[in-house]
Amino acid sequence: MSNMPFHFDLLHSDRDARRGCLHTPHGTVETPAFMPVGTQGTIKGVDIGRVAETGAQMVLANTYHLHLRPGDEVVAQLGDLHGFMNWSKPILTDSGGFQVFSLADRSKVDEQGVKFRSHIDGSLVDLTPERSMAIQENLGADLIMAFDHVIALPNTPEAVADATWRSVRWAERCQKAHSRSDQLLLGIVQGGLDHALRRECADAMVAMDFGAYAVGGLSVGEPPEEMYAAIEATTPHLPNERLRYLMGVGKPEDLLEAVRRGIDLFDCVMPTRNGRNALVFTDDGPRRLKNAQYTLQSEPLEADCPCPACQHSRGYLRHLFQAKEMLGPVLASIHNLTYYQRLLAEAREAIEADAFEEFHARKQAGWDQGR
Ligand code: GUN
Ligand code: ZN
Repeated sequence: MSNMPFHFDLLHSDRDARRGCLHTPHGTVETPAFMPVGTQGTIKGVDIGRVAETGAQMVLANTYHLHLRPGDEVVAQLGDLHGFMNWSKPILTDSGGFQVFSLADRSKVDEQGVKFRSHIDGSLVDLTPERSMAIQENLGADLIMAFDHVIALPNTPEAVADATWRSVRWAERCQKAHSRSDQLLLGIVQGGLDHALRRECADAMVAMDFGAYAVGGLSVGEPPEEMYAAIEATTPHLPNERLRYLMGVGKPEDLLEAVRRGIDLFDCVMPTRNGRNALVFTDDGPRRLKNAQYTLQSEPLEADCPCPACQHSRGYLRHLFQAKEMLGPVLASIHNLTYYQRLLAEAREAIEADAFEEFHARKQAGWDQGR
């Protein structure tokens, strides 16, 4: 395995929390890690140099969006996603599965794939496991995702099982169609909130021997406790020596709950989306900068935060939002991305020191106090 372009080193475990290192052709990622979301080849509002300064080691981009616009052939000609975005570190692309089902107009699923209308111009698009692999090969990310069928929760047990087994069959087709040895294909475990189904899906995916595994279909409206239970029903059935990625999650407290259950990698729009809406994360819980209480506050969001937003007072940041200045959303996004990166860096240190439980309890107490 050591001469392969991809390798996951499990460096240390503290109970179920894991400290690892993922090696890729574009460098290594210290885990647990958080990937900022760059859906359209840009982390919204934050230039790629600033993204690097937040401590991000890997970013995510989307098959669905980049295939529709500018087209994956265009991205390939502009130096694949690494050249296109000017990001020379690792990149992961999602397969389009999730986005088709959440964004496309009138999608129609059958065993072959999904037909839908583009949310941009209404044109008819056909996405299949094979097409998703071809598009992701053009985009050229280091980690690529199997094309899966994601359904909203709650749903009937029949619909959840049907989508889960279709995702397994599609994952087999992805494996057959995938040809680039410099890209690692991840299988995605579905199964909704059904623990037995999660386990069966995990077993089926593991039998197919993917280089790494994702836990999907969560954070789609279920209560947090049910999401944590579904993670806990999945991770024990994944191989210890392979990376585990929890897709689309979540709040700071969700990340620590998932790390505690053996997750290594995350992505979420929350730091940037919430930042654009004037909500910033801190160790005292989230702050809504539009609240009048911040008008005259001269201290930074966080005294020890090295980000450019924290060079300013809370009162100034609030003013930027009140005046609808574009710097407000930009600075709040950078602060939130920095917050997430610092949280994961602290989690890595705590795991190494066999002190994750104490670290987790201390962070949670701070967040609870600010509520
Ligand atoms: N993003 C968040 N959840 C999912 C999922 O279940 N599948 C895919 N492909 N992407 C996701
Ligand atoms: Zn800051």
